[in-house]
Amino acid sequence: MRIGIIGAGFIGQAVAQLVIAAGHEAMLSNSRGPHTLKDVLAEIPGAQIGTTEDAAAFGDVVLVAIPFMHYQSLSAEWLEGKTVLDANNYYPERDGPIPALDAFETTTSRLLAEHLSGALVVKVFNAILADDLLRDARPGQAHDRRALPVAADDPAAKALAIRLLDEVGFDAVDAGNLDESWRFERAKPAYCIPLNKEALKTALAEADRRIELPHGSWRH
Ligand SMILES: NC(=O)c1ccc[n+]([C@@H]2O[C@H](COP(=O)([O-])OP(=O)(O)OC[C@H]3O[C@@H](n4cnc5c(N)ncnc54)[C@H](OP(=O)(O)O)[C@@H]3O)[C@@H](O)[C@H]2O)c1
Repeated sequence: MRIGIIGAGFIGQAVAQLVIAAGHEAMLSNSRGPHTLKDVLAEIPGAQIGTTEDAAAFGDVVLVAIPFMHYQSLSAEWLEGKTVLDANNYYPERDGPIPALDAFETTTSRLLAEHLSGALVVKVFNAILADDLLRDARPGQAHDRRALPVAADDPAAKALAIRLLDEVGFDAVDAGNLDESWRFERAKPAYCIPLNKEALKTALAEADRRIELPHGSWRH
């Protein structure tokens, strides 16, 4: 599979390493252009670099891993018909206040899907630290395999993301559609905590929409 990556920071680079190790192709991009990504070529053997438009065109699947405040800068046209993996999280102190999120009326992925109206958005890779992606990946039968939550409206796009997770070293738990993805957003029990499949199901079920856990009980 060809995976375009928009956002070449911690998460974009970690996912690139995992998917390349699993035998896929990856093209990374950022806002400033490929000339600023030469170091990435040296650090991630096999990676390709391009503009965001190049990465969108390259990918059968496109990962979006940028500060959430910039999601409206993404081109819906370039991502039309693509499966878009959404790793983004909302941090009001970084992204500025977004009233509909602060009022628990929508989810980060629903906002992204509304903006990218022709894309098949899957919430995935948001509830794990970038370092942990590389540290916790395990082969299929490992007794200590970590599970990650996945949410999407489109069943085929969700199935593809679950398959990709398995290939790169993680079990998956289906957390429902994009409206349910608040269950593993920032400050929820399933957020950035290493859990196996059963424990992750419990953490997702225990989430309360209006209760944000204090800093320190989750790790990012
Ligand atoms: N770090 C983690 O452990 C972690 C874990 C889970 C989820 N997340 C979430 O994943 C997202 C990315 O986090 P990160 O830690 O990887 O961020 P980061 O290290 O700060 O990297 C952000 C990347 O996004 C690029 N970018 C910014 N605006 C862009 C735009 N409009 N178009 C294209 N590229 C753009 C930046 O490129 P330029 O420098 O050229 O602007 C940079 O390459 C955030 O929403 C974060 O909350 C992070």
